[in-house]
Amino acid sequence: MKRTHRLLSIVLASLSWSCAALASDKPAAPTLRQAAGDRMLIGAALMSNQLDDPRRAKFIAEQFNSLTAENEMKPDQLQRERGKFTFENADKIVDFADKHGMTVIGHTLVWHNQSPAWMYTDEKTKQPLSREAALENMRGHIHGVMNHYKGRVKGWDVVNEAIGDSEPYLRDTPALKAIGDDFVIKAFQFAREADPEAELYYNDYNIEANYKRPKALRLLKELKDAGVKVDGVGIQGHWLIDNSNAKEIEEGIKAYADLGLKVMITEMDVDPLPRRQGGGADLSATEREGLDPYKNGLPDDVQQKLAARYRDLFATFLKYPQITRVTLWGTDDGHSWLNGFPVRGRTNHPLLFDRDLKPKPALEAVIQTLQTGTSQTGAKR
Ligand code: XIL
Repeated sequence: MKRTHRLLSIVLASLSWSCAALASDKPAAPTLRQAAGDRMLIGAALMSNQLDDPRRAKFIAEQFNSLTAENEMKPDQLQRERGKFTFENADKIVDFADKHGMTVIGHTLVWHNQSPAWMYTDEKTKQPLSREAALENMRGHIHGVMNHYKGRVKGWDVVNEAIGDSEPYLRDTPALKAIGDDFVIKAFQFAREADPEAELYYNDYNIEANYKRPKALRLLKELKDAGVKVDGVGIQGHWLIDNSNAKEIEEGIKAYADLGLKVMITEMDVDPLPRRQGGGADLSATEREGLDPYKNGLPDDVQQKLAARYRDLFATFLKYPQITRVTLWGTDDGHSWLNGFPVRGRTNHPLLFDRDLKPKPALEAVIQTLQTGTSQTGAKR
């Protein structure tokens, strides 16, 4: 009995030793930030309360080397009431980033959404403020925010989404109504004077696409002609799983890279769900399940399609050393705005990690592409 016991413990010990050896022989899969190395920043957008969960906080620090506040640096979060700045939530993100060697990108100083009405509109008459009053508010906001984060935020989306979709040039917004077309120029000038060290970006969606690109190029030229220094262009990158616009995306990247600007993919996600209208509508899925066909998970063929789309897009990014950052718009599928947009209450799967923070095939595809790409180009961010 005693002998059997001893034998058993020897067998068990050697078994656990060989398991340990096996485990240490097999190199652990690199994280996203390890795979990106020095080639580019790889970021995620998040809400500060995600950092309250230690498991989630660890995951975020391991996988990403750049953070963007998904909502908490927007004008209505930082200065809902005139002159009363509220930085607590955003500070939590910046403190976490500092602690984990991550770069913070500020989003955003001037935008028509999630901005308090008082900034550009007279609250009593509902009419646009005078140009002078609106400029004073814009300047006050930009200075207040950028001074607070001086030296801690690497770059700012100074103006977000100023180009119109249907308008011939700029979007008809409260800031434009009060100030005029040069509100973009003014915003960049205020930002430069507030923090000359910070990088300044123009950020928008679909500016890679043919219908919007000429308007964005015109805006960048006007900024340049006005002597305004812009450091980079942010292509938001809210794309669909349908890959028919792959060529247009690359042409867009090239057009901005050719201007000598840094190009960043600032809000990337790839939506596998059908849309009511627009490209990428998967009609058979719509017919079968309404507009929420993947409530119980993404079928394998769609996982593979999503992975291929991510792989191809990252392969394109790596061809352009001007692409210095890719930020995913959310840390994982459970924290994606696409669960609520453009249709509320769906179960979406547009990111690299699933709801349990498990890697998806798309993650593996991106890591492999980054590893091949970085060894080939050796470009530096
Ligand atoms: C979205 C956030 O993800 C949502 O949580 C919020 O309700 C609305 O805004 N373009 C942008 C981002 O520049 O700020 C938007 O973020 C998504 C579209």
